[in-house]
Amino acid sequence: MRSPTPSVFLLGLGAYVPERRLTNDDLSQIVDTSDEWIRTRSGIAERRIASPEENASDMGTRAAERAIAQAGIDKADIDLVIVATTTPDTPIPSTACHIQRKLGLRTDIPAFDITAACSGFIYLLQIANHMLRAGNYQHALIIAAEKISSIVDWQDRTTCVLFGDGAGAAVVSKCDTPYVGILGNVLGADGTKGDMLACRLRTEPAPANSAGLPVGTHTVSMNGKEVFKNAVRVMSQSCRSVLGKCGVSTDDLALIIPHQANFRIIDAIAEELKIDKSKVMMNLERYGNTSAASIPIALEQAFTEGRIKNGDKILLVAFGGGLTWGATLLHWYQPAQA
Ligand code: UT7
Repeated sequence: MRSPTPSVFLLGLGAYVPERRLTNDDLSQIVDTSDEWIRTRSGIAERRIASPEENASDMGTRAAERAIAQAGIDKADIDLVIVATTTPDTPIPSTACHIQRKLGLRTDIPAFDITAACSGFIYLLQIANHMLRAGNYQHALIIAAEKISSIVDWQDRTTCVLFGDGAGAAVVSKCDTPYVGILGNVLGADGTKGDMLACRLRTEPAPANSAGLPVGTHTVSMNGKEVFKNAVRVMSQSCRSVLGKCGVSTDDLALIIPHQANFRIIDAIAEELKIDKSKVMMNLERYGNTSAASIPIALEQAFTEGRIKNGDKILLVAFGGGLTWGATLLHWYQPAQA
């Protein structure tokens, strides 16, 4: 268990999804699939698709502006920017540097990207937690932004129906109130299982498509069944591990916010942990799997809907390619409400 102070907590949240909706029926015009198959196998009804001009940094910037506004701080107060993305605008500059520029943040601060696929936001929380506690920083801006539509193979029905674009952000800050904010965090990775969910250079020229969907140089491939089994196993283990470390039981939880990949994975974890479904946040029906952005988008929605109040114990848990996984236990705290 960590020392009681300083505490590191989420001062502001923001989310952004592109305007364009791609429904299951739209997809059935592109590949051999149906609304019924997608809903019953995954729970997804529609997803958002970024416009050709809209990059990860544009979506991340919008989410970050909202997080800074909600935090009630000035953008000049941001001391650190970290972005999780598997779809950076460019390898260099990093998406964090693009966002720093677009927001007009100070230049005496670090800005960098990390890649941990769908687990990216949990990795960001751990990095920000340690950098704030150890360093000379007060406010970190963490952003998960994904234009997954640009790496989806729109001819592969086994993957293209699952993903969507979007971004989520948080201002993560330091305070002297003991035992609030991030109570514990566990992370894991297993590179020996990297082939299960990968993004590789296309071996053939990208096909033109008539649906106005992005055609990139890389494509995602996945062994869905194996990923599913591993997801249930390691997400359940991560939850148990972080709860055990913090001495908190599942009964104490107000809400669990899992990575939004498949409602059957989420139901299996809730069952495994014996957590009532009313305490499980799910919004994948509207957005599909937005990779690293899925947890902060769902967290922001839960907060906006009034499902989170000061003092609540909130468990975030993710799983993704790499393989990577992790869980964070939060004691919800916002000084304005305290
Ligand atoms: O964020 C990272 C983590 N990603 C995940 O967590 C995804 C994990 N995996 C899954 O969510 C599920 O495995 C899927 C939703 C991807 C697939 O569900 P499934 O129940 O494992 O289906 P399946 O792959 O076993 O496919 C069943 C059948 C197959 O046909 P046959 O062989 O039984 O004739 C597939 O070819 O469904 C077929 N199929 C489809 N049919 C209509 C696969 N994709 C589609 C499709 N539409 N889109």
